[in-house]
Amino acid sequence: MSTSQDTRGETLADPPVHVAIIMDGNGRWAEERGLTRPEGHAAGLDNIRRIVRFFAGRGVKYLTLFAFSTENWERPNDEVESLIGLLGQALRDETLPLHEEGIRINHLGRLDRLPDALRRAIRESVELTRHNDRMTLSVAYDYGSRSEIVNAVRAIVADGLLPHSISEEVMARYLYTSCLPDPDLVVRTGGEMRLSNFLLWQAAYAEFYSASAWWPDFDEAEAAKALDAYSRRRRRYGRLAPGETRGNR
Ligand code: FPP
Repeated sequence: MSTSQDTRGETLADPPVHVAIIMDGNGRWAEERGLTRPEGHAAGLDNIRRIVRFFAGRGVKYLTLFAFSTENWERPNDEVESLIGLLGQALRDETLPLHEEGIRINHLGRLDRLPDALRRAIRESVELTRHNDRMTLSVAYDYGSRSEIVNAVRAIVADGLLPHSISEEVMARYLYTSCLPDPDLVVRTGGEMRLSNFLLWQAAYAEFYSASAWWPDFDEAEAAKALDAYSRRRRRYGRLAPGETRGNR
């Protein structure tokens, strides 16, 4: 891992290559303002627009957003419909601007339970932007990590792989994230400290950052704080850091 030093001479880690965000707190943001939950999600979508630009501007190559979990289908109908409508709206309004900015759009999760038109819109956006390389924006939509792992195991069995040929690398190739590096930093807004079935395999060594701001209030300054906190972490991947003896003589 290469490092740099800040003005106090403190060693800073490289910026994260892949940032993944659990966008939490839209409902509480709306409640505080006497608005409906769907209005909170609409404000959440507005925030996605600015945060994507912020991380792209900071040179982050992969940004992954948890927008709809496999469990979110259990929410009231009007809320589910609003979340489905917002993804359609986002794809309609944002695909071309993102394409022009060199951003690749990627989907993580199940497609089979989404309405046909939405499935088509996702495929078109992914196809149009597939050669862009400034940043890959992955939207986890109808995504759940456990079901992703179960699907991967089923596909491995269906492909007839023998036990000795199954490694961590093989497993990773069968996940929705096969074209992404593991996240370096997982951010959760809304003050909670849970992974909530998000990237359980992939986040094995990610740094976790919890922001108390509701997602619609998680602006550029909040995002900069997350990057700053990350830069001060020591990533050891289960090993000792160089020069660290931990009391060994
Ligand atoms: C969690 O807040 C957020 C979600 C379940 C959905 C996130 C969706 C968006 C940010 C907007 C739509 C985005 C796309 C790409 C279509 P919560 O509702 O659980 O908030 P609460 O914990 O305060 O109730």
